[in-house]
Amino acid sequence: MELSRTAKSFTESVIREMTRICDSVGGINLSQGFPDFPTKEEIKNAAVRAIMDDVNQYSVTFGSPNLRSAIAKKVKSFNKIEVDPEEEITITCGATEAMLCTLKAVINPGDEVIIFEPYYENYGPDVILSGAKAKYITLHPPKWEFDYEELANAFNSNTKAIIINTPNNPTGKVFTRKELEYIAELCNEFNAIAICDEIYEHITYDDTRHISIASLPNMANRTVTINSASKTYSVTGWRVGWAIACPEITKLIRTVHDFTTVGAPSPLQEAVAFCMELKNDYYEQLRNHYFEARNYIHDALVECGFKLYETNGAYYFLVNCDELMNKYSISDDFEFSKFLIEKTGIATVPGTSFYTDKTKGNRQVRFCYCKSWDTLYESGKRLRKLID
Ligand SMILES: Cc1ncc(COP(=O)(O)O)c(C=O)c1O
Repeated sequence: MELSRTAKSFTESVIREMTRICDSVGGINLSQGFPDFPTKEEIKNAAVRAIMDDVNQYSVTFGSPNLRSAIAKKVKSFNKIEVDPEEEITITCGATEAMLCTLKAVINPGDEVIIFEPYYENYGPDVILSGAKAKYITLHPPKWEFDYEELANAFNSNTKAIIINTPNNPTGKVFTRKELEYIAELCNEFNAIAICDEIYEHITYDDTRHISIASLPNMANRTVTINSASKTYSVTGWRVGWAIACPEITKLIRTVHDFTTVGAPSPLQEAVAFCMELKNDYYEQLRNHYFEARNYIHDALVECGFKLYETNGAYYFLVNCDELMNKYSISDDFEFSKFLIEKTGIATVPGTSFYTDKTKGNRQVRFCYCKSWDTLYESGKRLRKLID
């Protein structure tokens, strides 16, 4: 019996392999993007309260009314987007499900989807599962900028959507207003949809602030804004995310979602509704922790001989390893990641995981720094073994 060729074509996530090797040597896992510190007591209490209040059965399939109203209120003030919670929000099992349901809801055979490369690992398989053809546009270091002309040339009458992730995993780039305006112009010219994954929207540094492409003129009806509680509230295991889109697109996202998962966990949806009411100081604290963590890991990596590029948000560094690869006579990113675990006990993700064109990532690895200070200090200490 021949099982699915598509499913067989996906390789197992490299992050899982690095995690396995890391665990076997008792190392520190800077490969996967989840915090190793607990979420706030008040957030945990909101989840416990919902369970004890008997919110334990299916909610409305497209999401608890409380959570949808709370999201609408928050995006109005933070993202400057006016949303009708009745017809324009779908609650999903994480941003992961929101992305797949969105693509399944909008793609027809022959459609093309533009993706910026390097990209968050799931987008490639998501596009394949939806039946679309992916077109990749490179983000170039040191500022992770794209070539405007190259992007314009990638758009054509088959372009159904462009996926934007800002703040960006794995680069730490935050798309500028000018870049978003340019993308918006192309979406309008070619009647394409912007699918914007904004899961790191609260993690921005220095004077940089996140802008939602849906808030730009003529974009509300052609944008799907994807988000999740995972990163902002440090609850990656809760699996609560959402997609915001005009009623026409939302109707189809809800249909796909209904047949995929029926619904996201009901008590956790109520707890996330509580999170939406958190005040500014919560977000300031989150930003400050990651800002200091970024600076600390930045300095440690530079001291060890990595070449770093500009980062304005999210919690990753995609670094160039030329100097160290030459020093230790290592020829590719996989070998280098394995060497790093052996030499320092630090797990990273090989750069090629984020590219379709493997030549672009084979001198890079990704470090993630969404960790407690104990882990960060220990990481700094271990990394310095590279200098010994
Ligand atoms: C850009 C991006 N989108 C989505 C996800 C997954 O989100 P969720 O946990 O809400 O499914 C991640 C996780 O690392 C991510 O980096």
